[in-house]
Amino acid sequence: MGTESEGVQMTDACAVILAAGDGKRMKSAQPKVLCEVLFKPMIAWVVDSVDRCGVPHTCVVVNDSGKVEPVLPARVKTAVQLERRGTGHATKMAAGFIRECGAADVMVLCGDAPLVTGEDLAKAYALHKAEKNDVTVLSAVVDNSTGYGRIVREDGHARREDGQVTAIVEEADTDETTRLIPEINSGAFWFGAKFLLEALDKLQPNNAQGEYYLTDTLAYAVNHGYRAGACVVSPDAALGANSRKGLQQLNAIARERVLEKHLENGVDIPFADGIVIGVDVKIGPDTRILPGTILKGNTVIGAGCEIGPNSHITDGVVKDGSQIISSYIDSAVVEANVKIGPMSNIRPDSHIMDGVKIGDFVEIKNSTIGEKTSVAHLTYVGDSDVGKGCNFGCGVVTVNYDGTNKHRTVIGDHAFIGCNTNLVAPVRVGNHAYSAAGTTITEDVPDDALVIGRARQVVKEGWTVKTGKFRKK
Ligand code: UD1
Ligand code: CA
Repeated sequence: MGTESEGVQMTDACAVILAAGDGKRMKSAQPKVLCEVLFKPMIAWVVDSVDRCGVPHTCVVVNDSGKVEPVLPARVKTAVQLERRGTGHATKMAAGFIRECGAADVMVLCGDAPLVTGEDLAKAYALHKAEKNDVTVLSAVVDNSTGYGRIVREDGHARREDGQVTAIVEEADTDETTRLIPEINSGAFWFGAKFLLEALDKLQPNNAQGEYYLTDTLAYAVNHGYRAGACVVSPDAALGANSRKGLQQLNAIARERVLEKHLENGVDIPFADGIVIGVDVKIGPDTRILPGTILKGNTVIGAGCEIGPNSHITDGVVKDGSQIISSYIDSAVVEANVKIGPMSNIRPDSHIMDGVKIGDFVEIKNSTIGEKTSVAHLTYVGDSDVGKGCNFGCGVVTVNYDGTNKHRTVIGDHAFIGCNTNLVAPVRVGNHAYSAAGTTITEDVPDDALVIGRARQVVKEGWTVKTGKFRKK
């Protein structure tokens, strides 16, 4: 993973991410940090931003629900906060981690502010080091500061940001003057490790909410001869989600950011309507994305593709020149110059080779479809290995499930599978084999053979008249 820190080495630093809050204000049974922005839990955004800085050790403070751990990468450590007693108390739960990793500096971040970037953190770290600070808060100047901690500075400076920071006042503790301050605490900080451990021990819950505020460490520094500073970053860094409405706003900002990045990279998005692209999705130049398309997870799209309208791809790979029209792909690989859709569903562990054509109402699951094979209409291919250059007629079904077990179907190269053929697995069809329409294949078919397995047609002349089935006009 690349580092955004541009020359600032963070090897002697560690990160603590606070994520023990519940989902009360979200009216969710999930911890808040699992709420998703662009289909990715907020906590995963923060972990990734920290990673991009190249910080070697990260600890996430979680509650005891056990729900956050599964979304964290294995190398991230956790500390448990059993009771919600404030951000200072939560940070203290990571004191053991901070001591153990022995780094000189610690960044502390909120798991519910996903848009803080590696650049913001690197910029603040550079200032933290240059000013030899013991604490540096990442602040932002916003239009509406309601709900945030306000950054208090000494008066008498031409520019507000030149005034020495003296305290952070939480919303519940503001008075008429402090309430009007437009500069707020983003929730992210850099600390000298020694200072942080000392300050955490001295915190008192003497405030409107009766909590241990991490933000009080700033006033502690100022009052005890330590150096405190603030690094003003983009207001996005501070944007947290405390409600569903807030989450929607975060999604809107993140979506716009991601779309812009792809436009800059040469992706063609003529109309953005209903297009949502996850932050980790990669798209090559000259690929056109059409309305209603949702691309999630670690999806990778090549160059010169056309995706959409209304295509949904999750953790899929689609290589150069392929076209995916109104179709779903989940955890599958589509090679180059493939055409899929409209209305098809490519399910996990499928591998669609070069030049394949998959038409309408086709479902492929856990199967390989060989080069230039055509599966054009109303077909189910599951647990199968299909060779190259085959042609599937309309309505072919691989009968892969016997009610207890799944079985594989193997089809050789250049086979012709006639309309409405059922292949009852386990079964093998040879190269250049040919199945007649309506055949139910239950036994292996050798290379070059014709297979017909259907009842012979019987015609009884005059039957409907004789039986009086239809009255003659
Ligand atoms: C906090 C800051 C505020 C800042 C804002 C930015 C404090 C006291 N206030 O307020 O100055 O402007 O973030 O968004 O720090 N958490 C725990 N355990 C707790 C309490 C919180 O782990 O006991 C975690 C939450 O999961 C969350 C983060 O800490 O990820 C922030 O907590 P939250 O309650 O959202 O703080 P704010 O009121 O937003
Ligand atoms: Ca918050």
